Amino acid sequence: MFNEITKFPDNFLWGGATAANQIEGAYLADGKGLTTIDLMPTGPKRNQVSTGNLNSFVPEEGEFYPSHEAIDFYHRYKEDIALFGEMGFKSFRMSISWARIFPNGDDITPNEAGLQFYDDVFDELLKYNIEPVVTICHFDLPVNLAKTYGGWKNRIMIKLFEKYSKTLFERYKNKVKYWMTFNEINMLLHLPYTGAGIIFEEGEDKQQVLYQAAHHELVASALAVKACHEIIPNAMMGCMLAAGNVYPYSSNPEDYWEVMKMERDSYFLIDVQSKGEYPGYAKRFFIENGIQLELESEDLEILKIYTVDYIGFSYYSSRCTSADPEILKNFTDGNVFGSVINPYLETSEWGWTIDPKGMRITCNQLHERYNKPLFIVENGLGAQDTLMDNDTIEDDYRISYLDLHFAEIAEAIKDGVDIIGYTSWGPIDLVSNGTGEMKKRYGYIYVDKNNDGSGTLRRIRKKSFHWYKDVIASNGTKYFQK
Ligand code: BG6
Repeated sequence: MFNEITKFPDNFLWGGATAANQIEGAYLADGKGLTTIDLMPTGPKRNQVSTGNLNSFVPEEGEFYPSHEAIDFYHRYKEDIALFGEMGFKSFRMSISWARIFPNGDDITPNEAGLQFYDDVFDELLKYNIEPVVTICHFDLPVNLAKTYGGWKNRIMIKLFEKYSKTLFERYKNKVKYWMTFNEINMLLHLPYTGAGIIFEEGEDKQQVLYQAAHHELVASALAVKACHEIIPNAMMGCMLAAGNVYPYSSNPEDYWEVMKMERDSYFLIDVQSKGEYPGYAKRFFIENGIQLELESEDLEILKIYTVDYIGFSYYSSRCTSADPEILKNFTDGNVFGSVINPYLETSEWGWTIDPKGMRITCNQLHERYNKPLFIVENGLGAQDTLMDNDTIEDDYRISYLDLHFAEIAEAIKDGVDIIGYTSWGPIDLVSNGTGEMKKRYGYIYVDKNNDGSGTLRRIRKKSFHWYKDVIASNGTKYFQK
């Protein structure tokens, strides 16, 4: 009566994912303006800036800003895309740098050279039958918007983002079918400058500022869904969250309640983008914390009507939590959030928990919560690689990480979860968002560049390059063999 699912979908979008500021470099080329991330240095100040606690509006002598050159994709995209083509990519997730299109964010007319660059990149991808998957805003905005308006604190950002996204839809309507509005929108609540260009002022009520900014992003995102559907009727617009299921440290109901709170923190904004309204727990949270959102009359209607078509998400790790303050002291790092150490799981060199089963759990949870297609748009292992004398890199640890995760994605598909694609993070080594380092590598392609910016930028295929190529060529058949 029911048919068993025996394979990845035929048109499954295998590929890789990047962000403009982590690969392009050429930070002032052809009329591009400075972005917030262009002024985010490496070292201890990086975290202070990204959390909105240190203003960084002008470059400082003696600081190193890794986005300025990154891996120079701006000048090397043909070579890089040829390598993606060789691996058989079906999709490539990338973001557009807002400041290449509108250098100051509030310019009257767009910068033609910036628009042309992305036209050229899309043409190159399409030449290899690689579907572009585009994030409109991946953690960078023109720095002028942060400086002049306070970033997403200010409602004016809705109009400016609407104009920017409409410009993209009009220009690329024949080339791009998969879009996403904001990368990891829930990060805004944890990294306010990275996610929303927010620097806090003395005495400001941080929660009030954050949730007002989040509201502005939500309305802007909904208006982008509307514009996308009007201008490119066959396109799909997604949201994007930093996901990862949470385990209770013990069977104490108080621990489980902490789990729910933590998961809701991640789902909060996605509930709005996908279901079209603030959930009850969010309203209660606003009331109990004295947060008064300033809404315009049509906002709730806009959120209601223009919900997303699919759920894009990153999954690197699961998390674990507890209600016991003593247990909470046993902490390990993670993608911003961190976690109580889970005694059953290992961690990466950077302390991120490795949990393949969590991938299956997360896919099932998102499917049950939203009942929309899922797109896994980030996953992978950040690790140090050794370049051997004969120009090889034996990254078996990366292969093993991916292999275990692919097996769980296959299980989720067998569970009936609708997953349209998988783009691993950083298919070519790139600048780490969290630390600004180069030595934290995710790629199938090695880039000869070091933390201090030295290196030839030469590209070298790793062992995982050939391995991933085989997975794609077979459409992951082995993960369905019993
Ligand atoms: C995600 C971001 O949070 O994690 C990426 O969308 C980021 O921009 C990725 O690079 C991995 O994090 P990191 O800190 O290892 O670069």
